[in-house]
Amino acid sequence: MAMCLTRNAKGDMMNGKRILLVIGGGIAAMKAPQLIRLLRAEGAAVTPVLTQAGAQFTTAMTVSVLAGEAAQAGLWDIASEAEIGHIQLSRNADLVVVAPATADLLAKMAHGLADDLASTLLLATDKRVLVAPAMNVRMWHHPATQRNLRTLRDDGILFVGPEDGDMACGEFGTGRMSEPEAIVAAIREELAPPAPLKLLPESQVRSGALAGRHVIVTSGPTHEPIDPVRYIANRSSGAQGTAIAAALRDMGARVSFVTGPAEVAPPEGVTVIRVQTARQMRDAVEAALPADAAVMAAAVADWRIKNSWAKKMKKDGSGKPPSLEMTENPDILAWVSQAGARRPRLVVGFAAETNDVVAHATDKRLRKGCDWIVANDVSEGTGIMGGSENAVTVITEDGPEEWPRMAKNAVARKLAQKIAGVIG
Ligand code: CTP
Repeated sequence: MAMCLTRNAKGDMMNGKRILLVIGGGIAAMKAPQLIRLLRAEGAAVTPVLTQAGAQFTTAMTVSVLAGEAAQAGLWDIASEAEIGHIQLSRNADLVVVAPATADLLAKMAHGLADDLASTLLLATDKRVLVAPAMNVRMWHHPATQRNLRTLRDDGILFVGPEDGDMACGEFGTGRMSEPEAIVAAIREELAPPAPLKLLPESQVRSGALAGRHVIVTSGPTHEPIDPVRYIANRSSGAQGTAIAAALRDMGARVSFVTGPAEVAPPEGVTVIRVQTARQMRDAVEAALPADAAVMAAAVADWRIKNSWAKKMKKDGSGKPPSLEMTENPDILAWVSQAGARRPRLVVGFAAETNDVVAHATDKRLRKGCDWIVANDVSEGTGIMGGSENAVTVITEDGPEEWPRMAKNAVARKLAQKIAGVIG
């Protein structure tokens, strides 16, 4: 069938952009030529890289002709290494795309292996990487693959698909590579300029829309002791709370930053109050009042051990584990929301949910009595807890407001601006 390259309605969206396309070895590699066609039709330049297995399913000739440039394949090809070099390949790219991304390629990426051109450039690149997984359903669900996916998401790798459907092997389930059109849509989204965040003009940020305002920010996890050497904790890194404190500081606010033992260092230029437990956090928040606003981003432990041991618990030889009796911690957000005359004008809570996010968060806002709830989905696979990005819905008295997924720093800036709209 004759095919000519035409610009489609999306026009020049990708004009001048270069995609480094790694084609892994799976039956879905047959869709790579169509993917290249669509990308070129939108104005993108495509440099194809074939793994050895990829070359079994589509040919270097086909992808080179469609891309209009030679497919790269070998790490040990002196000619191409002298001309471009495997490091240079990704330097020239705006986005690295792996389609199909086989279980093997994903495993290599997760473990930092580099034994061929594709895996080497994936390890060497500092560009964003979008993967379109494709594999048998059992391989997809295998704990090893799922573990690798978690690692890759934490590393900031972007995903499109896979989809559910019939597999080439005759089975049905998750593992089909997304169609080229869906991959192109994901690429388009990645290459599009970031959605305007309606950031304040630089001048206003410097002059300080929040100058003279005092904001309390809680952040990080709390550690609830079991005995002197053991504690109960959670996976919060403190990244989002730290970014919010920095954004408020940038807008001129005086920030009291009450932090549990977080992975992320507190920002400079704020008053840091370090605590371990929920009760210490509550006391620190109380001591920091009065404030114009409070942003409770901490992942406070809901429970603590009722009678923690003063000395290290020892095995008694009976083989019976100790039973730990727990009791509820003070709810700092609910408490500050109901602090009467000492209540900050604006109280912002967070809701980390794994299902029915908006419904739970809407209920939480009313139950705790705060003004806004910043809700996010922390279920496994979103890569949000401990990751660098966040996708939040801000619930105010006007209802839910969904923000696009963006860097935690960008969420912080946008939230700081929204806060300035009330107390600035
Ligand atoms: N929070 C708090 N003190 C607590 C528990 C939570 O201040 N003891 C705050 C958090 O900082 C966050 C908000 O309450 O701003 C919601 O936290 P989350 O853990 O999502 O809610 P929970 O109170 O644990 O409610 P649930 O058990 O229903 O999820």
